[in-house]
Amino acid sequence: MILLIFFLITVDGSSVGVCPTQCDCDMDNGLNRASCVNQNIVSVGVGVPAEVQVYSLSHNAISELDNFCFKELGYKSIQILNLSYNQIFWVGLHAFFGLDQLLELNLSNNRLRYFPSDVFWYTPQLVSLDLSSNVFETIKNEPFVMHTKLQVLNLNNCRIKSLPDRVFSRLPNLKKLDLSENYLVTINLDVLRPMRKLNRLELRNDYWQCNPDFIATETWITSHDIAYQKICAKRSPKMFEKMISVVEVEKDPVEIENVWNITSDSNTTDVVPTPKTPLTPFQKFDRNFSALQAFVIGVEVGLAIGIVATYVWLRSVRSCTRLMNRRRSLRERRRMRRREGDMRNLLLWNPGIPRNLETPPIYRRQGLITDSDTVNTQGLPSREINMYADDGRSETPPPPYHECRLNL
Ligand SMILES: *[C@@H]1O[C@H](CO)[C@@H](O)[C@H](O)[C@H]1NC(C)=O
Ligand SMILES: *[C@@H]1O[C@H](CO)[C@@H](O)[C@H](O)[C@H]1NC(C)=O
Ligand SMILES: *[C@@H]1O[C@H](CO)[C@@H](O)[C@H](O)[C@H]1NC(C)=O
Ligand SMILES: *[C@@H]1O[C@H](CO)[C@@H](O)[C@H](O)[C@H]1NC(C)=O
Repeated sequence: MILLIFFLITVDGSSVGVCPTQCDCDMDNGLNRASCVNQNIVSVGVGVPAEVQVYSLSHNAISELDNFCFKELGYKSIQILNLSYNQIFWVGLHAFFGLDQLLELNLSNNRLRYFPSDVFWYTPQLVSLDLSSNVFETIKNEPFVMHTKLQVLNLNNCRIKSLPDRVFSRLPNLKKLDLSENYLVTINLDVLRPMRKLNRLELRNDYWQCNPDFIATETWITSHDIAYQKICAKRSPKMFEKMISVVEVEKDPVEIENVWNITSDSNTTDVVPTPKTPLTPFQKFDRNFSALQAFVIGVEVGLAIGIVATYVWLRSVRSCTRLMNRRRSLRERRRMRRREGDMRNLLLWNPGIPRNLETPPIYRRQGLITDSDTVNTQGLPSREINMYADDGRSETPPPPYHECRLNL
């Protein structure tokens, strides 16, 4: 009997609606909250009762918001809608039809490239719109969003390259705008001027060129009581430096100890101090010019010097030994010739030179030697002899003997 009553009660309760198993339903600041987070949900209709006021579908796989998708499910009371971390790339013009009470919409971390500018026609109460981390790369020169009540707009990290003048021209009540972490290099004053209520502006990014245009914009911002962190404030613009930073964006070195959990047992690991100040172009060059390159170039230079030195050395040694050989052989031959008593040839070749000359001229001697077969029997290289025999220089004077010295 008690069981039956319990059963009846549960059936009665289910007629109002159940919280789907993928969701957690509770109260949040007096509002009915359903959190259906990280459940691979592909559609906004998962059976959450129509009374939901705070609806979070964050971290799911929703890819499109069809026209009238909330209206068809009877959702009329949603005030806070969180669709962050899905794969939404398309939003129908009438997607938010019926969400009269929507105050906050979170579409951050989706894949939106384009957005119908009057899509919020049906959400007149909307105050906060988070579109951060989408991919609105190129923005047309037309109002990006049109809304009379919107106060907070987040376009952080949307890969926006430039902002045409009319992009925020239909947001008269916008108070807080975040344009940080985009690819903007400058911003025209006319972009900001239409937002007369603006009191907070975020423009953090690494690409700003502090050109006259941008400096004028900053001056205008600070003179209009807008909370803003100046970018070009401290130093006068250094175009060269800025251009370098635009061309190559380098990350600061991060000490590994700060990001990894390294528990070393030994005391030997010394942390190499990394420079904290931004590197000058020369230091950058030094860093890029690696030790390996230096080593290779060193080896090449060393090899070149070695080859040249060896060549020079070999040449001198060779000429010396040649000279020595020549002299030695000549001495022997002379001795032999003397023994034979044949001085006729010497006189014939060398008539001006006295007989008691210590070392006779070489070429003439060489020429003389080729005639006789005794040369080869004495173990002299015949090549050298032929060289001197054939070159017809028998009339040239002998080379000086001090050739033996190393003269480079
Ligand atoms: C969903 O969005 C709301 C407000 O838009 C925010 O307070 C909440 O933290 C978000 N939830 C998750 C899970 O991101
Ligand atoms: C939107 O959702 C993201 C991620 O859940 C969160 O970090 C962000 O604070 C939310 N935006 C607002 C305005 O609550
Ligand atoms: C780092 O790793 C060690 C185990 O290797 C662990 O005991 C310690 O708690 C970790 N520290 C942190 C900060 O995670
Ligand atoms: C490391 O050095 C500290 C003091 O500098 C010492 O107390 C500790 O025993 C050392 N640890 C090892 C593994 O040598």
